[in-house]
Amino acid sequence: MATLGTYGMKQPKLRVRQSGIVRLQCFKDLPDGNLFIAEVNRHVPFDIKRVYFINGLVNPIAVRGKHAHKTLEQLMFCISGSFVLHLDDGTNRQRITLRDPSCGIRIGPMLWHTMGSFSHDCVILVIASAVFDESDYIRDYQAFLDCVRSGRYA
Ligand code: TYD
Repeated sequence: MATLGTYGMKQPKLRVRQSGIVRLQCFKDLPDGNLFIAEVNRHVPFDIKRVYFINGLVNPIAVRGKHAHKTLEQLMFCISGSFVLHLDDGTNRQRITLRDPSCGIRIGPMLWHTMGSFSHDCVILVIASAVFDESDYIRDYQAFLDCVRSGRYA
Protein backbone atom coordinates (compact mmCIF):
# COMPACT_ATOMS: atom_id res chain seq x y z
CA MET A 1 0.00 0.00 0.00
CA ALA A 2 1.36 3.41 -0.98
CA THR A 3 1.60 6.38 1.37
CA LEU A 4 1.02 9.76 -0.18
CA GLY A 5 3.26 12.76 0.43
CA THR A 6 5.29 12.57 3.56
CA TYR A 7 8.63 13.99 3.88
CA GLY A 8 10.59 13.49 0.71
CA MET A 9 9.43 9.94 0.04
CA LYS A 10 8.87 8.87 -3.55
CA GLN A 11 5.26 9.51 -4.61
CA PRO A 12 3.17 6.47 -5.45
CA LYS A 13 2.12 6.13 -9.06
CA LEU A 14 -1.64 6.08 -9.40
CA ARG A 15 -2.70 3.28 -11.73
CA VAL A 16 -6.43 3.95 -11.45
CA ARG A 17 -8.09 6.07 -14.09
CA GLN A 18 -9.70 9.42 -13.25
CA SER A 19 -7.28 10.03 -10.42
CA GLY A 20 -4.07 11.87 -9.73
CA ILE A 21 -2.03 13.58 -7.06
CA VAL A 22 -2.62 17.23 -6.23
CA ARG A 23 -0.17 19.32 -4.24
CA LEU A 24 -1.15 22.42 -2.33
CA GLN A 25 1.07 25.39 -1.74
CA CYS A 26 2.43 25.21 1.80
CA PHE A 27 4.20 27.75 3.99
CA LYS A 28 5.86 25.95 6.88
CA ASP A 29 5.95 28.48 9.69
CA LEU A 30 6.63 26.04 12.52
CA PRO A 31 6.51 26.43 15.46
CA ASP A 32 3.92 29.01 14.47
CA GLY A 33 1.88 26.71 12.25
CA ASN A 34 1.63 25.70 8.62
CA LEU A 35 -0.40 27.49 5.94
CA PHE A 36 -1.90 25.45 3.06
CA ILE A 37 -3.40 27.07 -0.02
CA ALA A 38 -5.73 25.65 -2.67
CA GLU A 39 -6.28 28.12 -5.48
CA VAL A 40 -8.44 27.57 -8.56
CA ASN A 41 -6.35 27.04 -11.72
CA ARG A 42 -3.10 26.70 -9.75
CA HIS A 43 -3.91 23.70 -7.55
CA VAL A 44 -7.58 23.01 -8.21
CA PRO A 45 -8.39 22.17 -11.86
CA PHE A 46 -12.09 23.16 -11.69
CA ASP A 47 -14.30 25.91 -10.34
CA ILE A 48 -15.05 25.16 -6.70
CA LYS A 49 -18.78 24.84 -6.00
CA ARG A 50 -18.69 23.05 -2.66
CA VAL A 51 -16.36 22.29 0.23
CA TYR A 52 -17.09 19.77 2.95
CA PHE A 53 -15.14 18.09 5.70
CA ILE A 54 -15.53 14.97 7.79
CA ASN A 55 -14.39 14.68 11.41
CA GLY A 56 -15.39 12.69 14.50
CA LEU A 57 -14.06 9.48 12.99
CA VAL A 58 -13.79 7.78 16.36
CA ASN A 59 -15.27 4.44 15.29
CA PRO A 60 -12.20 2.35 14.43
CA ILE A 61 -14.18 0.21 11.96
CA ALA A 62 -16.00 3.09 10.25
CA VAL A 63 -16.15 2.87 6.46
CA ARG A 64 -17.27 5.83 4.33
CA GLY A 65 -17.75 6.44 0.65
CA LYS A 66 -18.64 3.18 -1.11
CA HIS A 67 -19.85 5.01 -4.20
CA ALA A 68 -18.80 6.63 -7.45
CA HIS A 69 -20.02 9.79 -9.11
CA LYS A 70 -21.24 10.08 -12.69
CA THR A 71 -19.80 13.55 -13.36
CA LEU A 72 -18.47 15.10 -10.14
CA GLU A 73 -14.81 16.07 -9.77
CA GLN A 74 -13.42 16.09 -6.24
CA LEU A 75 -10.09 16.61 -4.51
CA MET A 76 -9.69 14.79 -1.21
CA PHE A 77 -7.18 15.76 1.49
CA CYS A 78 -6.37 14.42 4.93
CA ILE A 79 -5.79 17.61 6.91
CA SER A 80 -5.36 15.88 10.28
CA GLY A 81 -4.38 12.33 11.21
CA SER A 82 -4.53 9.65 8.54
CA PHE A 83 -6.82 7.29 6.67
CA VAL A 84 -6.71 4.77 3.85
CA LEU A 85 -8.40 5.59 0.54
CA HIS A 86 -9.40 2.63 -1.64
CA LEU A 87 -9.84 3.46 -5.33
CA ASP A 88 -11.36 1.21 -7.99
CA ASP A 89 -11.90 2.24 -11.62
CA GLY A 90 -13.64 -1.02 -12.51
CA THR A 91 -10.38 -2.60 -13.66
CA ASN A 92 -7.59 -1.40 -11.39
CA ARG A 93 -7.68 -1.11 -7.64
CA GLN A 94 -5.33 0.84 -5.41
CA ARG A 95 -5.00 1.63 -1.72
CA ILE A 96 -3.34 4.84 -0.61
CA THR A 97 -2.63 6.12 2.87
CA LEU A 98 -3.25 9.85 3.17
CA ARG A 99 -1.55 11.72 5.99
CA ASP A 100 0.20 14.71 4.39
CA PRO A 101 -2.21 17.71 4.32
CA SER A 102 -0.43 19.26 1.33
CA CYS A 103 -0.97 16.19 -0.82
CA GLY A 104 -4.43 15.23 -2.07
CA ILE A 105 -6.05 12.85 -4.48
CA ARG A 106 -8.25 13.70 -7.43
CA ILE A 107 -11.40 11.60 -7.46
CA GLY A 108 -12.85 12.09 -10.91
CA PRO A 109 -16.05 10.64 -12.37
CA MET A 110 -16.62 6.88 -12.34
CA LEU A 111 -14.08 6.12 -9.66
CA TRP A 112 -15.41 3.90 -6.89
CA HIS A 113 -13.96 5.13 -3.60
CA THR A 114 -14.04 3.92 -0.03
CA MET A 115 -12.38 5.44 3.01
CA GLY A 116 -11.41 3.53 6.16
CA SER A 117 -8.73 2.87 8.80
CA PHE A 118 -9.21 6.36 10.19
CA SER A 119 -6.95 7.63 12.94
CA HIS A 120 -8.99 9.05 15.86
CA ASP A 121 -7.88 12.59 14.94
CA CYS A 122 -8.57 12.23 11.21
CA VAL A 123 -10.18 15.14 9.37
CA ILE A 124 -10.95 14.76 5.65
CA LEU A 125 -11.38 17.85 3.52
CA VAL A 126 -13.06 17.61 0.12
CA ILE A 127 -13.23 20.26 -2.60
CA ALA A 128 -15.93 19.58 -5.20
CA SER A 129 -16.85 20.86 -8.65
CA ALA A 130 -20.62 20.86 -8.10
CA VAL A 131 -23.22 21.29 -5.41
CA PHE A 132 -24.70 18.18 -3.82
CA ASP A 133 -26.82 16.08 -6.17
CA GLU A 134 -27.88 12.60 -5.05
CA SER A 135 -28.70 11.67 -8.67
CA ASP A 136 -24.98 11.98 -9.51
CA TYR A 137 -24.17 9.11 -7.12
CA ILE A 138 -23.81 5.44 -8.07
CA ARG A 139 -24.12 3.62 -4.77
CA ASP A 140 -24.47 0.07 -6.06
CA TYR A 141 -21.16 -1.60 -6.97
CA GLN A 142 -22.63 -3.85 -9.66
CA ALA A 143 -24.38 -0.86 -11.25
CA PHE A 144 -21.02 0.95 -11.20
CA LEU A 145 -19.33 -1.95 -13.00
CA ASP A 146 -22.15 -2.08 -15.55
CA CYS A 147 -21.78 1.67 -16.22
CA VAL A 148 -17.98 1.38 -16.59
CA ARG A 149 -18.27 -1.56 -18.99
CA SER A 150 -20.96 0.10 -21.07
CA GLY A 151 -18.92 3.32 -21.32
CA ARG A 152 -21.79 5.35 -19.92
CA TYR A 153 -20.55 8.59 -18.30
CA ALA A 154 -17.10 8.03 -19.85
P1 TYD B 1 -21.95 10.57 1.42
O1 TYD B 1 -21.42 11.38 0.27
O2 TYD B 1 -22.48 9.20 1.10
O3 TYD B 1 -20.82 10.45 2.53
P2 TYD B 1 -19.43 9.62 2.52
O4 TYD B 1 -18.99 9.45 1.10
O5 TYD B 1 -18.49 10.48 3.32
O6 TYD B 1 -19.67 8.31 3.19
O7 TYD B 1 -23.05 11.44 2.17
C1 TYD B 1 -23.62 11.02 3.40
C2 TYD B 1 -24.96 11.72 3.54
O8 TYD B 1 -24.79 13.12 3.56
C3 TYD B 1 -25.91 11.41 2.39
O9 TYD B 1 -27.21 11.26 2.93
C4 TYD B 1 -25.88 12.65 1.54
C5 TYD B 1 -25.53 13.75 2.50
N1 TYD B 1 -24.70 14.80 1.91
C6 TYD B 1 -25.27 16.04 1.61
O10 TYD B 1 -26.47 16.29 1.87
N2 TYD B 1 -24.49 17.02 1.05
C7 TYD B 1 -23.18 16.80 0.75
O11 TYD B 1 -22.48 17.72 0.23
C8 TYD B 1 -22.60 15.51 1.03
C9 TYD B 1 -21.16 15.22 0.73
C10 TYD B 1 -23.41 14.55 1.62
